[in-house]
Amino acid sequence: MHWLVAALVFVLVPMALAMANLPDGALKNALYEWHKSFGLTVLALALARLLVRAARGAPPLVAGLPAWQRRAARASHLALYALIVLVPLLGWAGTSACCAPVMLYGTLPLTLPVSGGMPVGEAILKVHQVAAFTLVALVALHVGAALHHHVVRRDGTLRRMWLGRGER
Ligand code: HEM
Ligand code: HEM
Repeated sequence: MHWLVAALVFVLVPMALAMANLPDGALKNALYEWHKSFGLTVLALALARLLVRAARGAPPLVAGLPAWQRRAARASHLALYALIVLVPLLGWAGTSACCAPVMLYGTLPLTLPVSGGMPVGEAILKVHQVAAFTLVALVALHVGAALHHHVVRRDGTLRRMWLGRGER
Protein backbone atom coordinates (compact mmCIF):
# COMPACT_ATOMS: atom_id res chain seq x y z
CA MET A 1 0.00 0.00 0.00
CA HIS A 2 2.95 2.35 0.74
CA TRP A 3 4.38 1.96 -2.77
CA LEU A 4 0.98 2.11 -4.48
CA VAL A 5 0.21 5.41 -2.73
CA ALA A 6 3.68 6.72 -3.67
CA ALA A 7 3.23 5.73 -7.34
CA LEU A 8 -0.22 7.37 -7.48
CA VAL A 9 1.07 10.61 -5.91
CA PHE A 10 3.96 10.68 -8.40
CA VAL A 11 1.39 10.45 -11.22
CA LEU A 12 -1.19 12.80 -9.62
CA VAL A 13 1.02 15.86 -9.25
CA PRO A 14 2.27 16.21 -12.86
CA MET A 15 -1.25 15.28 -13.98
CA ALA A 16 -2.64 18.16 -11.88
CA LEU A 17 -0.12 20.64 -13.28
CA ALA A 18 -0.97 19.53 -16.83
CA MET A 19 -4.75 19.62 -16.41
CA ALA A 20 -4.70 23.05 -14.74
CA ASN A 21 -2.62 24.57 -17.56
CA LEU A 22 -3.97 22.85 -20.69
CA PRO A 23 -6.44 24.67 -22.95
CA ASP A 24 -10.06 23.46 -22.69
CA GLY A 25 -10.67 20.21 -24.54
CA ALA A 26 -11.04 16.45 -24.31
CA LEU A 27 -7.52 15.83 -22.92
CA LYS A 28 -8.00 18.37 -20.11
CA ASN A 29 -11.37 16.82 -19.19
CA ALA A 30 -9.94 13.29 -19.24
CA LEU A 31 -7.02 14.32 -17.00
CA TYR A 32 -9.47 15.88 -14.49
CA GLU A 33 -11.46 12.65 -14.38
CA TRP A 34 -8.34 10.48 -13.89
CA HIS A 35 -7.00 12.93 -11.29
CA LYS A 36 -10.19 12.71 -9.23
CA SER A 37 -10.44 8.91 -9.44
CA PHE A 38 -6.73 8.32 -8.69
CA GLY A 39 -7.02 10.86 -5.86
CA LEU A 40 -9.96 9.05 -4.27
CA THR A 41 -8.01 5.79 -4.63
CA VAL A 42 -5.21 7.39 -2.57
CA LEU A 43 -7.78 8.38 0.08
CA ALA A 44 -9.11 4.79 0.27
CA LEU A 45 -5.59 3.33 0.47
CA ALA A 46 -4.54 5.89 3.11
CA LEU A 47 -7.53 5.01 5.30
CA ALA A 48 -6.84 1.29 4.81
CA ARG A 49 -3.20 1.85 5.80
CA LEU A 50 -4.23 3.67 8.97
CA LEU A 51 -6.63 0.84 9.89
CA VAL A 52 -3.95 -1.82 9.31
CA ARG A 53 -1.43 0.23 11.30
CA ALA A 54 -3.88 0.71 14.18
CA ALA A 55 -4.63 -3.03 14.24
CA ARG A 56 -1.13 -4.42 13.70
CA GLY A 57 1.24 -1.59 14.65
CA ALA A 58 4.43 -0.84 12.76
CA PRO A 59 8.00 -2.12 13.19
CA PRO A 60 10.06 0.00 15.59
CA LEU A 61 12.51 2.47 14.03
CA VAL A 62 15.98 1.03 13.48
CA ALA A 63 18.14 1.04 16.61
CA GLY A 64 20.87 3.58 17.28
CA LEU A 65 19.22 6.72 15.89
CA PRO A 66 19.82 9.99 17.76
CA ALA A 67 16.74 11.25 19.64
CA TRP A 68 16.18 14.18 17.23
CA GLN A 69 16.10 11.82 14.25
CA ARG A 70 13.59 9.54 16.00
CA ARG A 71 11.41 12.58 16.71
CA ALA A 72 11.80 13.83 13.12
CA ALA A 73 10.89 10.39 11.72
CA ARG A 74 7.77 10.12 13.89
CA ALA A 75 6.64 13.69 13.16
CA SER A 76 7.21 13.41 9.41
CA HIS A 77 5.44 10.03 9.17
CA LEU A 78 2.47 11.49 11.07
CA ALA A 79 2.40 14.51 8.74
CA LEU A 80 2.60 12.23 5.66
CA TYR A 81 -0.36 10.18 6.91
CA ALA A 82 -2.32 13.37 7.65
CA LEU A 83 -1.61 14.78 4.18
CA ILE A 84 -2.48 11.63 2.20
CA VAL A 85 -5.90 11.80 3.90
CA LEU A 86 -6.37 15.60 3.84
CA VAL A 87 -5.18 16.36 0.30
CA PRO A 88 -7.68 14.06 -1.47
CA LEU A 89 -10.42 14.93 1.04
CA LEU A 90 -9.97 18.65 0.24
CA GLY A 91 -9.97 17.96 -3.51
CA TRP A 92 -13.17 15.95 -3.13
CA ALA A 93 -14.83 18.58 -0.88
CA GLY A 94 -13.87 21.34 -3.34
CA THR A 95 -15.30 19.59 -6.40
CA SER A 96 -18.42 18.56 -4.45
CA ALA A 97 -19.03 22.21 -3.47
CA CYS A 98 -18.43 23.84 -6.82
CA CYS A 99 -19.10 21.34 -9.48
CA ALA A 100 -20.38 17.78 -9.58
CA PRO A 101 -19.99 14.36 -7.95
CA VAL A 102 -16.81 12.47 -8.79
CA MET A 103 -17.61 9.65 -11.23
CA LEU A 104 -15.24 7.03 -9.80
CA TYR A 105 -13.49 5.53 -12.87
CA GLY A 106 -16.50 6.62 -14.93
CA THR A 107 -18.98 4.55 -12.93
CA LEU A 108 -19.93 5.29 -9.31
CA PRO A 109 -21.02 8.90 -8.47
CA LEU A 110 -19.45 9.97 -5.16
CA THR A 111 -20.06 13.31 -3.49
CA LEU A 112 -19.64 15.04 -0.13
CA PRO A 113 -22.39 17.23 1.40
CA VAL A 114 -20.56 20.57 0.98
CA SER A 115 -22.63 23.56 -0.12
CA GLY A 116 -21.61 27.10 -1.10
CA GLY A 117 -21.11 26.75 -4.83
CA MET A 118 -18.20 28.12 -6.82
CA PRO A 119 -16.71 30.59 -4.24
CA VAL A 120 -16.51 27.91 -1.52
CA GLY A 121 -15.31 25.27 -4.01
CA GLU A 122 -12.53 27.52 -5.30
CA ALA A 123 -11.40 28.43 -1.77
CA ILE A 124 -11.24 24.76 -0.76
CA LEU A 125 -9.37 23.85 -3.96
CA LYS A 126 -6.79 26.58 -3.19
CA VAL A 127 -6.16 24.92 0.19
CA HIS A 128 -6.03 21.57 -1.66
CA GLN A 129 -3.31 22.94 -3.95
CA VAL A 130 -1.21 24.34 -1.06
CA ALA A 131 -1.61 21.10 0.93
CA ALA A 132 -0.59 19.06 -2.16
CA PHE A 133 2.59 21.11 -2.63
CA THR A 134 3.34 20.72 1.10
CA LEU A 135 2.98 16.94 0.61
CA VAL A 136 5.44 17.10 -2.32
CA ALA A 137 7.99 19.01 -0.18
CA LEU A 138 7.62 16.53 2.68
CA VAL A 139 7.97 13.55 0.32
CA ALA A 140 11.23 15.08 -0.99
CA LEU A 141 12.51 15.26 2.60
CA HIS A 142 11.26 11.72 3.26
CA VAL A 143 13.06 10.35 0.17
CA GLY A 144 16.22 12.21 1.25
CA ALA A 145 15.99 10.56 4.68
CA ALA A 146 15.40 7.11 3.10
CA LEU A 147 18.49 7.56 0.89
CA HIS A 148 20.52 8.77 3.87
CA HIS A 149 19.62 5.54 5.71
CA HIS A 150 20.46 3.44 2.67
CA VAL A 151 23.66 5.08 1.40
CA VAL A 152 25.23 6.78 4.43
CA ARG A 153 24.07 4.81 7.47
CA ARG A 154 23.67 1.57 5.46
CA ASP A 155 21.01 0.25 7.87
CA GLY A 156 18.01 -1.87 6.78
CA THR A 157 15.40 0.94 6.73
CA LEU A 158 14.85 1.05 2.95
CA ARG A 159 15.48 -2.68 2.36
CA ARG A 160 12.81 -3.72 4.87
CA MET A 161 10.19 -1.69 2.96
CA TRP A 162 10.52 -3.91 -0.12
CA LEU A 163 7.90 -6.64 -0.58
CA GLY A 164 8.71 -9.80 1.34
CA ARG A 165 11.96 -8.37 2.69
CA GLY A 166 10.95 -7.75 6.30
CA GLU A 167 13.80 -7.58 8.82
CA ARG A 168 14.52 -11.13 9.79
C1 HEM B 1 -3.20 12.60 -3.05
C2 HEM B 1 -4.13 13.03 -3.89
C3 HEM B 1 -4.04 14.30 -4.69
C4 HEM B 1 -2.95 15.05 -5.04
C5 HEM B 1 -1.47 14.82 -4.71
C6 HEM B 1 -3.44 16.19 -5.78
C7 HEM B 1 -2.64 17.21 -6.30
C8 HEM B 1 -3.13 18.38 -6.87
C9 HEM B 1 -2.32 19.53 -7.23
C10 HEM B 1 -0.81 19.65 -7.05
C11 HEM B 1 -3.16 20.45 -7.74
C12 HEM B 1 -2.80 21.88 -8.21
C13 HEM B 1 -2.66 22.01 -9.70
C14 HEM B 1 -2.41 23.47 -10.07
O1 HEM B 1 -3.37 24.27 -9.98
O2 HEM B 1 -1.30 23.82 -10.40
C15 HEM B 1 -4.50 19.89 -7.74
C16 HEM B 1 -5.62 20.54 -8.22
C17 HEM B 1 -6.88 19.99 -8.24
N1 HEM B 1 -7.27 18.77 -7.72
FE1 HEM B 1 -6.05 17.45 -6.82
N2 HEM B 1 -4.81 16.09 -5.88
C18 HEM B 1 -5.21 14.96 -5.22
C19 HEM B 1 -6.52 14.50 -5.08
C20 HEM B 1 -7.64 15.10 -5.63
C21 HEM B 1 -9.01 14.61 -5.51
C22 HEM B 1 -9.42 13.34 -4.75
C23 HEM B 1 -9.80 15.48 -6.20
C24 HEM B 1 -11.30 15.46 -6.41
C25 HEM B 1 -12.07 14.46 -6.11
C26 HEM B 1 -8.96 16.51 -6.75
C27 HEM B 1 -9.39 17.56 -7.53
C28 HEM B 1 -8.62 18.61 -7.93
C29 HEM B 1 -9.14 19.78 -8.64
C30 HEM B 1 -10.59 19.99 -9.07
C31 HEM B 1 -8.05 20.65 -8.81
C32 HEM B 1 -8.11 22.06 -9.40
C33 HEM B 1 -7.42 22.21 -10.69
C34 HEM B 1 -7.64 23.61 -11.21
O3 HEM B 1 -7.10 24.58 -10.62
O4 HEM B 1 -8.39 23.74 -12.16
N3 HEM B 1 -7.64 16.25 -6.38
N4 HEM B 1 -4.45 18.63 -7.21
C1 HEM C 1 3.86 9.95 -1.76
C2 HEM C 1 4.93 9.33 -1.43
C3 HEM C 1 5.16 8.71 -0.06
C4 HEM C 1 4.40 8.77 1.08
C5 HEM C 1 3.06 9.47 1.30
C6 HEM C 1 5.11 7.99 2.10
C7 HEM C 1 4.65 7.80 3.39
C8 HEM C 1 5.27 7.03 4.36
C9 HEM C 1 4.82 6.83 5.70
C10 HEM C 1 3.55 7.45 6.30
C11 HEM C 1 5.69 5.99 6.33
C12 HEM C 1 5.63 5.51 7.78
C13 HEM C 1 5.14 4.10 7.89
C14 HEM C 1 4.82 3.75 9.34
O1 HEM C 1 5.75 3.61 10.15
O2 HEM C 1 3.63 3.63 9.66
C15 HEM C 1 6.71 5.66 5.37
C16 HEM C 1 7.77 4.83 5.60
C17 HEM C 1 8.84 4.69 4.75
N1 HEM C 1 8.98 5.24 3.48
FE1 HEM C 1 7.63 6.36 2.52
N2 HEM C 1 6.26 7.49 1.55
C18 HEM C 1 6.34 7.91 0.24
C19 HEM C 1 7.34 7.66 -0.68
C20 HEM C 1 8.51 7.02 -0.37
C21 HEM C 1 9.63 6.84 -1.28
C22 HEM C 1 9.67 7.33 -2.74
C23 HEM C 1 10.60 6.17 -0.58
C24 HEM C 1 11.98 5.71 -0.99
C25 HEM C 1 12.78 6.32 -1.80
C26 HEM C 1 10.08 5.91 0.76
C27 HEM C 1 10.75 5.23 1.74
C28 HEM C 1 10.22 4.88 2.98
C29 HEM C 1 10.90 4.06 3.95
C30 HEM C 1 12.29 3.44 3.80
C31 HEM C 1 10.04 3.93 5.05
C32 HEM C 1 10.28 3.10 6.34
C33 HEM C 1 10.71 3.88 7.50
C34 HEM C 1 10.97 2.94 8.67
O3 HEM C 1 11.07 1.73 8.49
O4 HEM C 1 11.07 3.44 9.78
N3 HEM C 1 8.82 6.44 0.85
N4 HEM C 1 6.44 6.31 4.18
